[in-house]
Amino acid sequence: MQTTRLGRTGLVVSRLCLGMMSYGLPAWRPWVLDEAASRPIVKHAVECGINFFDTADMYSAGESEVLTGRFLREFCRRDEIVVATKLFHPVGLEFSSGMAAKGGGRRPPPNTHGLSRKRIFHAVDASLERLGMDYIDLYQIHRWDPATPIEETMEALHDVVKAGKVRHIGASSMWAWQFAKAQEVARANRWTPFASMQNHYNLAYREEEREMIPLCRDQGVALIPWSPLARGFLAGNRRADDATAGATTRARSDEIAPKLYYRASDFATVERLGTLAKAKGVSNATLAYAWLLHKGVTAPIFGATKLPQIDQAVAAVELTLSAEEVAQLEAGYEPHPVLGHS
Ligand SMILES: NC(=O)c1ccc[n+]([C@@H]2O[C@H](COP(=O)([O-])OP(=O)(O)OC[C@H]3O[C@@H](n4cnc5c(N)ncnc54)[C@H](OP(=O)(O)O)[C@@H]3O)[C@@H](O)[C@H]2O)c1
Repeated sequence: MQTTRLGRTGLVVSRLCLGMMSYGLPAWRPWVLDEAASRPIVKHAVECGINFFDTADMYSAGESEVLTGRFLREFCRRDEIVVATKLFHPVGLEFSSGMAAKGGGRRPPPNTHGLSRKRIFHAVDASLERLGMDYIDLYQIHRWDPATPIEETMEALHDVVKAGKVRHIGASSMWAWQFAKAQEVARANRWTPFASMQNHYNLAYREEEREMIPLCRDQGVALIPWSPLARGFLAGNRRADDATAGATTRARSDEIAPKLYYRASDFATVERLGTLAKAKGVSNATLAYAWLLHKGVTAPIFGATKLPQIDQAVAAVELTLSAEEVAQLEAGYEPHPVLGHS
């Protein structure tokens, strides 16, 4: 497995990060695997040399962090691995999709979400307890909090770094101006800046190429995009009637994917990907990850619900693409509205 530095930090990470959102409680989202089904997949990822794992407090209402900690304690040495988690959303089974409770009911109770000083101090301790670890390598803000002054957030994040609970901090989907503002506030006050950006970027959604990616490259911020396979859409087995006749549990039950993808132009992207993948004798998934690795990404954060999916991701690290092949994959892309900030 190839490794690289996480942005300008000294942290060494594998060129692939395993997304732990797929492991936890099926009661949270039907396509999530339970502990028994998850264990061999995570074990195989570790055996393939992956040392970078991304979870969040909200995934499976905390159970994803519990399993992440349990598996990594079982399979790895703590000093070799890089554990990333996130905070922002409320944590609870009723909040499976962010801020809105299931069925549109209850709003999250006060102080149980967002990026206030109180919330950050509480959330970091709760994550450490669930992980069963005494520090987090990369602590990320899952979203921008418009209700809290960014100075309060950046100082509190700096304080959890200085307290030894967190080694580095990162951010996730937001507008480029918000990220630039946060970095400036940190720099001006000599607080810890973000080392990484976990954004929404894949062959079917490339709007980040406009502002966020050039900003991060200029500033030496690591790019660790989420959903590199567009939640499975790029794999080639998704159809317009997935909700009723989908090929996999996730195809049938992932309520977010149809809001982000499934446009006619997205199906055309999959068609192009499939044509080149066939010509190169690799799977769509391998080629989609390889494309990202050729675009200056540090490590895509990929999801896997079956053992061979790990192997197909690992194969991407060694796959070389010519400039013509990259251009062939990108030709015909149609701009999307900004998606994935909420
Ligand atoms: N920061 C954020 O806001 C945010 C948002 C979303 C995700 N994330 C992070 O990103 C990680 C990955 O997200 P994701 O699961 O949506 O990523 P993804 O890699 O785009 O999609 C994963 C899905 O693709 C399918 N798949 C994977 N490999 C395949 C293969 N070789 N052949 C066929 N199908 C394959 C599987 O679906 P099937 O089960 O249908 O086979 C799998 O569940 C998460 O675990 C989380 O850590 C972060």
